[in-house]
Amino acid sequence: MLVLGLESSCDETAAAVVRDGKDVLSDVVFSQDQIHQDYGGIVPELASREHISQVIPVLAQALETANVSWDDIDGIAVTCGPGLIGALFVGVQTAKAIAYARKIPFVGVNHLHGHIAAVFLDRETPDPSFPHLALLVSGGHTEIVLVKSMTSMERLGVTRDDAAGEAFDKVAKMLGLGYPGGAKIDKLAQQGALGHFSMPRLMTGEKTGYDFSFSGIKTAVLRIIQEQESLSDTDIQNLAAAFQESVVEVLVRKISKAVKTSMIDTVQLCGGVAANSRLRYVLETTGKEQGFSVFIPPLSYCTDNAAMIAAAGYHRFQDGIEDPWDLSASTRMSF
Ligand code: KG4
Ligand code: ZN
Repeated sequence: MLVLGLESSCDETAAAVVRDGKDVLSDVVFSQDQIHQDYGGIVPELASREHISQVIPVLAQALETANVSWDDIDGIAVTCGPGLIGALFVGVQTAKAIAYARKIPFVGVNHLHGHIAAVFLDRETPDPSFPHLALLVSGGHTEIVLVKSMTSMERLGVTRDDAAGEAFDKVAKMLGLGYPGGAKIDKLAQQGALGHFSMPRLMTGEKTGYDFSFSGIKTAVLRIIQEQESLSDTDIQNLAAAFQESVVEVLVRKISKAVKTSMIDTVQLCGGVAANSRLRYVLETTGKEQGFSVFIPPLSYCTDNAAMIAAAGYHRFQDGIEDPWDLSASTRMSF
């Protein structure tokens, strides 16, 4: 089944053509990073305006790259939440109009299900089995999810304040690195060393369950910046390394705890922060030491894209789900 995926929940306008939830024929992402950079974060109004300009060119490019025509597309999947409402409306309305005109089925996809479906894209090794646990870490979400099937999921833990990616972006801003900052901190941290700055490990007590908190670490970084008269390049690298290590350690500790308690020994890592090199390494090493398998999508499918939405949509179609013409979009959506 050939599914066209559309994603416009935040600041990426993306379209992709994917066969059977796995084989990516095209994956086009127009990133608005440049537009929002000057503001140090996403400006919702600008995001909606840019989506409306880009959605058709991006769609056309996805079909062209996949070398398919509209006649080949069997279904359309579109992100219908969570996200910025104006941004979501652009994708949802475009998908509905095409599905109506072409008389093909369409489904709305929870963006978080999309991140979880990314692990099946372009896989050469076997897929993760069900049930498994997902550590979903992005700019807007940090959650531990019990994935019973691709259409049945349950949230086990969630951040009580900032998402991990949000903490990366805010710390990057404090260090003058620009937006978005996750990948920049990752790079700087590789040149830094641990042991120069100490950072708290938040929400690691027994009673905190699988929940997270990342706003305190941001404050800890701010305090260090304020205490220093000036920060050399080496200081910035060391600070990036210390901050990143704290976030990675807490994430890995919590998912290990979920493995032990649930006795589910298959874990997948997804969401934009899954692109973090240290997180990928520490989770894989911990999995080997503690006897659980770790699945991580290729880098380009960790951050927002439409191939993951097409994959999640494919699983919905397989379960016989189709959405009605009055489907709307939601800023909030749970599993
Ligand atoms: O999944 P995503 O593209 O968008 C949301 O759904 O939020 O995630 C974006 C987030 C941003 O906060 C970005 O800074 C972070 O992922 N990110 C990273 C890395 N690459 C992207 N964080 C840490 N290390 C990275 N290499
Ligand atoms: Zn995302």
